[in-house]
Amino acid sequence: MREQETREAQAEIRALLKEKKAILLAHNYQPGEVQDAADLCGDSLELSRKAAKTDAQIIVFAGVHFMAETASILSPDKTVLLPNKEAGCLMADMITAEGLLLRKQELPGVPVVTYVNSPAEAKAHTDVCCTSANVVSVVNALDAPELLLAPDKNLAMYAARHTKKKIHIWDGFCPVHERLSAEDARAAKEAHPGATFMAHPECRPEVIDRADVVKSTSGMLAHPETSPAREFIVATETGILHPMRKRYPDRVFYPAAKHMVCKNMKRISLGDIIRSLREMSGEVRVPEAVRAPALAAVERMIRI
Ligand code: 13P
Ligand code: SF4
Repeated sequence: MREQETREAQAEIRALLKEKKAILLAHNYQPGEVQDAADLCGDSLELSRKAAKTDAQIIVFAGVHFMAETASILSPDKTVLLPNKEAGCLMADMITAEGLLLRKQELPGVPVVTYVNSPAEAKAHTDVCCTSANVVSVVNALDAPELLLAPDKNLAMYAARHTKKKIHIWDGFCPVHERLSAEDARAAKEAHPGATFMAHPECRPEVIDRADVVKSTSGMLAHPETSPAREFIVATETGILHPMRKRYPDRVFYPAAKHMVCKNMKRISLGDIIRSLREMSGEVRVPEAVRAPALAAVERMIRI
């Protein structure tokens, strides 16, 4: 889209949002022009929690399906729209309620911690949820010597470094982070000596070993505020470079690898948002039988 067209589409979105008394949320990985049109940007949980507190009756979620579900879990009285139904999450697809129930049978009495990047049906069979920002606190707050952490094996291995508890691992992963190799990390560090290497906990252990800081997307966005470093290598989805460069124009940010692009996060276009708002299409609603137990797991996390 040319610059002029982008600006016109963004203006149309703002006008539609006002007319419909709706709010547009965008995850930190969304295309820059979508983030620029949004009321709020951030990580998935942050966005859903903020949305639950607004008066807006309609939430348009520029993110992926599990994020729209989480918004619906927290705001059952609001209408949640996902502007492109194809925007799923490959990691969330690696766990189902049926699979989780089978694994629970193999681990009787072992509590289940589920990453928010999972379907609502899996959250419904979970003791407590976690995010990349709070996984260590959640694991350590549990009154149990062992637990199952699903679906991200890398997040589970990262948590295992910060707890004495035994963590049972689910064999899921985010393909975008999993693809970043130790060799990619080494090459990025060699190309930018002196830069701070920031990694997301969805990265492989051998990448985490090479990182100076390990943080969620919101943690990475906040980090330069208190860091003396001028340059940063960013080991997560490259969409985050847009808000980073806007927020810290005097710093330099490099992607750890150009291939760190989530196709699903890039599916939502300005045109999709306009269509969704005009037609009120793409509603995501979690059925009450799933919502109630899923909400209990999310609320337990929020209390921790
Ligand atoms: P956070 O924004 O919670 O760090 O999540 C990363 C992610 O992979 C979202 O899809
Ligand atoms: Fe899912 Fe990974 Fe894409 Fe996030 S970046 S939506 S975890 S596939």
